[in-house]
Parts: sequence; C-alpha cells; structure tokens
Amino acid sequence: MSYLIGEGMTGGYGGADILHDCTIAAEKGEIAVIVGPNGAGKSTAMKAVFGMLNIHTGRVVLDGEDITELSPQERVGKGMAFVPQTNNVFPTMSVEENLEMGAFLRRDDISVTMEQVFELFPILGDKRRQNAGELSGGQRQQVAVGRALMTQPKLLMLDEPTAGVSPIVMDELFDRIIEVARTGISILMVEQNARQALNIADKGYVLVQGRNRFTDTGAALMANPEVRASFLGG
Ligand SMILES: Nc1ncnc2c1ncn2[C@@H]1O[C@H](COP(=O)(O)OP(=O)(O)OP(=O)(O)O)[C@@H](O)[C@H]1O
Ligand SMILES: [Mg+2]
Repeated sequence: MSYLIGEGMTGGYGGADILHDCTIAAEKGEIAVIVGPNGAGKSTAMKAVFGMLNIHTGRVVLDGEDITELSPQERVGKGMAFVPQTNNVFPTMSVEENLEMGAFLRRDDISVTMEQVFELFPILGDKRRQNAGELSGGQRQQVAVGRALMTQPKLLMLDEPTAGVSPIVMDELFDRIIEVARTGISILMVEQNARQALNIADKGYVLVQGRNRFTDTGAALMANPEVRASFLGG
C-alpha cells in the first residue's frame, strides 16, 4: 500500500461535488505530481488530502492509518505539511519568524532544523532578518517550503510551488525538491509547469473536472501522445 493514499475521494465545498472518485497516492521518498487544466480540482484534491474539505465518499490513509476524520492540525501531528497555493508566507514577519511559525507545534529544539533549511536554501540564511514580503517571488516560495519543513514532515504537499517564478528559479526549486525527496520525505505537488514537473515525477496524475484522467509514471505520461497533445502543448 502507498505511504499516502487519498482513495476514491468525492466531495466539494458544500455545493455540488468538485471531486469525483478521485484517487491520489504518494510513496516514501518519491515525487507525485498532479497536473491538469485550471479549475480541474487540483487544489481541491490537495485540500481533501489535508483535511480542509469534507469528502463524503472515500478515505485518506497515511502510513497505514485511516486519517479521514482528522483535522488539518492533527494531520500535521501525523507528519503532513501543506504549502497552499496563495498567501503561504507571513509578509510582515522576518524569514526567521516565518520559519519559527512553522515549528509552533514542536516542543523540542528547532535550531538544527532551521540550519538544515538554511543549508537547503542558503539565501534564506542571508536574509533571515528581512521581512518575507520584501523578498522575490522565488525566495518567498523558498520561505514557504522552508516553513513546511520546520515541522519535520514525512509528507510535504506543495500547491504550485513555482507559480510566478522564472524558468531558472523553477529549475532550482525543483532541484531542491528532489533533494528533499532523497531524504525520504514523500512529495505531493500540484504544478502548472506540467512538462517540467512530470520530468521529475515518479508518479503523475492528470485531473480533469475533478476526475482522474490519466495516472502513470512521469516518464510514461510524458511519452503518451494523448497526454502530450491535450495537456503538454504537443
Ligand atoms: N473555496 C471554494 N468554494 C467553492 N468552490 C470552490 C472553492 N475553491 C475552488 N472552488 C471551485 O472548485 C473547482 C476546482 O477548483 P480548484 O481551485 O481546485 O482548481 P485547480 O485545478 O487548483 O485550478 P488552478 O489551476 O486555477 O489552481 C472550481 O470550479 C472552483 O471554482
Ligand atoms: Mg489550484
């Protein structure tokens, strides 16, 4: 069984269902990527996995434990971390304070983890006293990922971590995400840059209108003519 599985998830925000029998999984130390058109339900699927949405059918299982009924905060306690698509840093707080906020549930010494974040993203160490709101888009995304890592997650969920950054910054961010996965952390990521993301994905999910349209390895999806034509621009 997968380390994480959101299985047969159906539900929405109270009105009509947005997700329809949607299944998303992530393995230990691997990168799973969700792609699909705008409004396909990618963010909604992430929220369902993190417990921010009521699914009336289906379940979420983490490391063999059914966590469907747990709150987001309880899921953080189980090792999940979620970086939402928008408003994912505190702009008027310093980089260091943002990272401290990430660790608010911890009762142990957080300084080692903070140093690890600065090793992964050296620019954040240089700018630790600067307000996050003053940083570039790519640096703010590093703060958001760093803040999530402060909880020492086993599963890191990222909703469009490269939104609004240049191709070079995107490549760098993807390299760091690969590095994180190599430490044994599972990554579940939504990406608008489908081609580049599937390139680093162990597993890929193409969602359309809240349903699984294609599920395969990243490489197989990249090679699939139908996926290429409809979702990767040819
Ligand atoms: N808070 C909400 N309340 C009600 N409906 C919502 C809410 N958030 C999203 N939706 C609806 O759910 C559907 C899926 O939206 P979602 O944000 O999950 O798509 P997405 O694939 O993440 O899109 P994008 O690529 O634009 O980020 C859309 O029809 C959207 O209007
Ligand atoms: Mg979205």
